[in-house]
Amino acid sequence: MEPQYSPVLAIDGPSGAGKGTIARLVARRLGWHLLDSGALYRLVALAAESHAIGLEREDGLVTLAGHLDVQFIDNGEAETRIILEGDDVTDAIRSERCGDAASRAAALPGVRTALLDRQRAFREPPGLVADGRDMGTVVFPDAWLKVFLTASAEERAKRRYKQLKQKGLNVSLSALLEDIAARDRRDASRSVAPLRPADNAVVIDTTALDVDQVTQRVLALVSASGEGQK
Ligand code: C5P
Repeated sequence: MEPQYSPVLAIDGPSGAGKGTIARLVARRLGWHLLDSGALYRLVALAAESHAIGLEREDGLVTLAGHLDVQFIDNGEAETRIILEGDDVTDAIRSERCGDAASRAAALPGVRTALLDRQRAFREPPGLVADGRDMGTVVFPDAWLKVFLTASAEERAKRRYKQLKQKGLNVSLSALLEDIAARDRRDASRSVAPLRPADNAVVIDTTALDVDQVTQRVLALVSASGEGQK
């Protein structure tokens, strides 16, 4: 039997560039599946904490990453519910602490390899919108369209601040800015899958654009390639 054609739209970029929101909106518009790859790294970090496995123990983290007991439940709500070992961790994985631990776990080559198959399994017809740091470079190098979203560190910190405030979390803007800068450095300088646009990615600077404008630009790229109309 012919394998079914499942195009991938890769949306990569640094923390807070708006990838998550844009990826979700575009996936809904196209009726495609969605992969939030950052959530997988966050889940590894959370599972490590609950199993008391230190972030320096690559072997333990690799085993965890290869056996994550997780379900993604899309009820058509604004957020996909994420269940880890029977517990709803949708909100717990979004804390800055978990994001920081995730970026440390993500710097370990073994952890990245252990998550590869799980990420690729999201590729199913009619298509996949994949959000992350290395979707276009490593996980789906054959993605049909690659977009790299970026924005100034200040603007990204402001967006994160608003998001966390809305969730009722207490954070300081200056601490967020420092955290974003530290995470950018770690993500861009790690030896495996460092954060960078794929050679054939379309780079969109979203600093002065709102969610709607970015979504329209990405959808325009999709229709220019003819894919969304199949
Ligand atoms: O995107 P999000 O902030 O949820 O990702 C959390 C962390 O996971 C990032 O800071 C990054 O270090 C790591 N990550 C990664 N590769 C991906 C997605 C996320 O290294 N594809």
